Amino acid sequence: MSTDLANRVALVTGASAGLGAQFARVLAREGARVAIAARRTDRLASLAAEITDAGGIALPLALDVSSLASIRAGAAQVAAELGPIEILVNNAGISLTKRAEAVEEDEYDALMDTNLKGAFFMAQAAARQMIAAKIPGRIVNIASIVGQRTVGQLSVYGMSKAAMIQMTHSMAREWGRHNINTNAICPGYITTEMAADFLPTEAGQRFVASMPRKRFGNPEDLDSLLLLLCSGEASRFINGAIINADDGFTSH
Ligand SMILES: NC(=O)c1ccc[n+]([C@@H]2O[C@H](COP(=O)([O-])OP(=O)(O)OC[C@H]3O[C@@H](n4cnc5c(N)ncnc54)[C@H](OP(=O)(O)O)[C@@H]3O)[C@@H](O)[C@H]2O)c1
Repeated sequence: MSTDLANRVALVTGASAGLGAQFARVLAREGARVAIAARRTDRLASLAAEITDAGGIALPLALDVSSLASIRAGAAQVAAELGPIEILVNNAGISLTKRAEAVEEDEYDALMDTNLKGAFFMAQAAARQMIAAKIPGRIVNIASIVGQRTVGQLSVYGMSKAAMIQMTHSMAREWGRHNINTNAICPGYITTEMAADFLPTEAGQRFVASMPRKRFGNPEDLDSLLLLLCSGEASRFINGAIINADDGFTSH
């Protein structure tokens, strides 16, 4: 698939690790100028160097999505240094593996502030720039199959992702008239730091054995879907879609 991403301004949150780092690499490879945002700035500096060495353009951005002030400052910095945000990959997220009866208030707040409130206000900040500049926009929310089905000990995480799916529909409906397409990717199980503790355990290995193709995915497995949803022309009629990329997990 050919993309039209050359010189487009993209912002990827949670770019210091896992899926976000790969999303940033693949957008930069297609010629987008990519702001890479997260809290761990040392990791962002390494990724920016990697992207620059490969001939791309990356702007490292210290940004905490659980802080509205940080979101607004980060979005303003992107506009000042690269131009208005044209593509947002709303990827920053944390997980919490705990039985519902044991979840503490501070854990609940931290998760919702990051996965839901952060994603909402990040999308708002990007959409405000897109609307003001009258440029077509693409927002890709990284939700999860856990937002569509129950998984043991992931109640709060699943709630945040279910709400993100609803948020995607609402934004698609409200912002379509401004030429902004908002879609969500629901990944299945992908090998990143988020899954790193679980995979090697006995329970993790049992879980893998129960999967249709007995494997986790790699971050690169989402490259083509991300590019489709970020491309202007290729995704022109795709708005409000919730797309699973889970190797058949939710079908079995
Ligand atoms: N891996 C999977 O199997 C899977 C499946 C479905 C959905 N997902 C979703 O995919 C997204 C990425 O997950 P991952 O597996 O790549 O996780 P990961 O390796 O743990 O990376 C999470 C990223 O989010 C960033 N982040 C966390 N809190 C943040 C905050 N307050 N402000 C800014 N950035 C923050 C982290 O950066 P800093 O710590 O440096 O800030 C890191 O870059 C998440 O939304 C996750 O829910 C993952």
